[in-house]
Amino acid sequence: MTRVTPVERHAVDDLSALPDDFVWGAATAAYQIEGAVGEGGRAPSIWDTFSHTPGAVDNGDTGDEACDHYHRWPEDIALMRQLGLGAYRFSIAWPRVVPEADGRVNPAGLAFYDRLTDALLEAGITPFATLYHWDLPQAQQDRGGWPERATAERFGEYAAVVADRLADRITDWTTLNEPLCSAWIGHLEGRMAPGLTDLTAAVRASYHLHLGHGLAVQALRAANPRVRVGIVNNLSPCEPATDSEADRAAARRADGHTNRWWLDPIHGRGYPEDMTQLYGVDLPVRGGDLATIATPLDWLGLNYYFRFVVADDPSGAAPYIRQVPGPGPRRTAMDWEVHGDGLEQLLLRLTDDYGARRIHVTENGSAYHDTVAPDGRVHDPERTAYLEEHLAACARAVKQGAPLAGYFAWSLMDNFEWAYGYDKRFGLVHVDYPTQRRTIKTSGRRYAELIAAHRSRTGGA
Ligand code: IFM
Repeated sequence: MTRVTPVERHAVDDLSALPDDFVWGAATAAYQIEGAVGEGGRAPSIWDTFSHTPGAVDNGDTGDEACDHYHRWPEDIALMRQLGLGAYRFSIAWPRVVPEADGRVNPAGLAFYDRLTDALLEAGITPFATLYHWDLPQAQQDRGGWPERATAERFGEYAAVVADRLADRITDWTTLNEPLCSAWIGHLEGRMAPGLTDLTAAVRASYHLHLGHGLAVQALRAANPRVRVGIVNNLSPCEPATDSEADRAAARRADGHTNRWWLDPIHGRGYPEDMTQLYGVDLPVRGGDLATIATPLDWLGLNYYFRFVVADDPSGAAPYIRQVPGPGPRRTAMDWEVHGDGLEQLLLRLTDDYGARRIHVTENGSAYHDTVAPDGRVHDPERTAYLEEHLAACARAVKQGAPLAGYFAWSLMDNFEWAYGYDKRFGLVHVDYPTQRRTIKTSGRRYAELIAAHRSRTGGA
């Protein structure tokens, strides 16, 4: 399993183990920043429906306005330049591009991403586009959503439309962002759109998300064989709360639920048998599907936030585990334990157990209660320390052979944090929502410094 080699720790100032052409980026997602939900021919997504459901999101917040990025993107690109970013990871909103169930393409939706792409390239920032970051068109949900095979097929068609327009200029693509959240949190735990608590629906959704992913990879390659395609998974090391056999078995189940279910099928290993037995739900497999799901990828995206420490819980629902607080002393405003070593561990696991040839950390970051100080600045020492600790973990993993090609901080700016609304701030840039004023936080300045220092040492991009 996971290699954990005792190595000398890198001081954060020594990021020289990172490759010369290391990609320094930041990430966002459409529904979290764009706003303008009723403009440019966009139709509602499942997140419009969910966020407008009373009680679903803290404070009744919605993405209706968010960071108004739909109108302010030139200012946001200027901020990226100030930070010295080499790349920007954003998502394309399916409900802007193919808003309704009839498959009609909305030219205004495509034109928005077309302008954004050109402006990024002009600014010397490499676009990394994600096709799906949770905003399924409500019209597709009304036809059954991800538990239905047709949604995977529609996703493949939508991918072809986007690729046809943008794959001449965008080289780096990801199909899905964190399908675990769409399937497990959206269909099993009910804490995200579409808000279901149904194991059968969740397992079927996971399968069709994977199938849609495979179809989208093929559509992107058909549009331009030179694209580099990946998928973004959020993974977590899973550790037992105690040394008891019951807790160790719980940790293996947690690992199956969180990691192997999402990695094995895309690597041609099929779905882990221990988990299919545990869920007891028939997968709707048709001939050729598993090969489509395992269409070879150019890279893997890793989103890392926390480890899981789990105990056995036979009284709950599958996978019969209870999360207990990690032992580390530091926690973010999400109540997530700060544990940089977990990132190193996962990078090595992808390398050793899955033979990864290229990895990007596509998200990593922390929420804290930031405020604008009387001096007009936003001082966020905890986020700065978090950033440094996790970059040091990246450097250690690279030193041990992980083919890490880039790091994308989550997030470029404060935004709509799903069911937590706007209270949870993850940005390198502070957003004052009433005025939409942006202020680079001290963590953002530190990130800019580290990027500049690495570039000046390596002469890299
Ligand atoms: O904000 C989210 C993002 O949309 C997906 N990954 C985790 C982030 C923080 O919760």
